[in-house]
Amino acid sequence: MTESQHTGDQRESAGVVILGAGPAGLVLANLLLRSGIDCAVLERADREHLLNRARAGYLAPHTARVLRRHGLDEGLRRRGQEHGVCEFRTEDGRFRLDYRQLGTGEPHTVYPQHELVADLLAAYLGAGGRIRFDTEAVEIGGPDTTRPWVTAREPDGRASRWSARYVAACDGRHGAGRRSLPDRAVRHFRDHGVSWLGLLAEAPPSLDAVGYATHPRGFAGHMARSADITRYYLQCERGTPAGEWSEERIWDELELRMRSADHGPLRRGRIVQRAVVDLESDVLDTLRYGSLLLAGDAAGLISPSAAKGANLAVLEAELLAEALAADLHRGDPGPLAHYSDRCLTHIWRAQEFSHWMIGLLHGAPPFQEGMRRSRMESLRTSRTHQDWFAEQYVGI
Ligand code: APR
Repeated sequence: MTESQHTGDQRESAGVVILGAGPAGLVLANLLLRSGIDCAVLERADREHLLNRARAGYLAPHTARVLRRHGLDEGLRRRGQEHGVCEFRTEDGRFRLDYRQLGTGEPHTVYPQHELVADLLAAYLGAGGRIRFDTEAVEIGGPDTTRPWVTAREPDGRASRWSARYVAACDGRHGAGRRSLPDRAVRHFRDHGVSWLGLLAEAPPSLDAVGYATHPRGFAGHMARSADITRYYLQCERGTPAGEWSEERIWDELELRMRSADHGPLRRGRIVQRAVVDLESDVLDTLRYGSLLLAGDAAGLISPSAAKGANLAVLEAELLAEALAADLHRGDPGPLAHYSDRCLTHIWRAQEFSHWMIGLLHGAPPFQEGMRRSRMESLRTSRTHQDWFAEQYVGI
């Protein structure tokens, strides 16, 4: 695509155009705005959808520190719940790890991601930030120039063309950032061969811990969200339509796999959201292509097995904001040159631990199942292993 093809489009510009208003895009937008860098956010969804989309909820201590450092943690402080215990339920009984007492001695904060997004959006708009909802970035052009541009579809269907000094693609796995990568981009993809039916239930938590159950019929998970909303996961066959299971079958299956007969019943409620997720990883070799920078899921997709996605997104957004400020304010290109390597160190650490968790929670007989049992037994009995687990579990 050439610039001349866009002469009829509505023209806009910003110092940094940010694609996507998830945790990555909005943390970046807030930090850039505070450091006086002109930016604009383009978000495909409408505001209503963005603010009600239930996603992850376990924030790492590092994420809480980033938000605190920049004065973006008011909601988190008021409504976030400290959380520090996991319970494993296996064929051999159950055991609990109070991970606040292990490893680095830090808890998670449970805070639903859509509330975090709402806080970040309010802070950004309150500081005079520019955002366009209902505006889908279609393609990014000129990443190898100092004046890249984004073509977008505006809410009225018209095309617009945004020019910038930098484009930050924080628009997830299926966004324009990923679609516009140059041919030289290298992806490292892994299908973990496991699928989960992710469920959001209008029901209070059933245990005071993150629950991980392994069962011959597959994995089941329990994660508290709030006093009356709980997330559950059920491993399912690849290709299962999300709507296939009735609510009764879902609860019966959860009860069976979570071994309710031995450990007490689950608190049932209406299933208000469901989606099947195939556990996959997809990491880029570099997060920078000239004037195009990627952060969050756009930079590296991670399986949800260890709840690292949103935490990586916030970490990367802070590093990117610092690097852009160094470049645009001080003319120092160093931090931007190291942005990718700094992030990839954290991305691969998180990938390795998430992969380890997949092996802890799923096994196909006989070899994988033998490995899984051995890993679980080591975690149950070895204090050294428990300390390592706790450090990795909350770390980023
Ligand atoms: N143009 C504009 N916006 C887009 C486009 C596009 N072409 N494509 C996607 N988006 C928007 C989405 O609507 C979404 O709001 O980009 C945003 C991306 O946000 P997230 O998916 O939340 O991704 P990110 O900010 O990277 O957060 C990462 O949070 O819950 C976890 O699983 C999630 O791991 C992920 C993490």
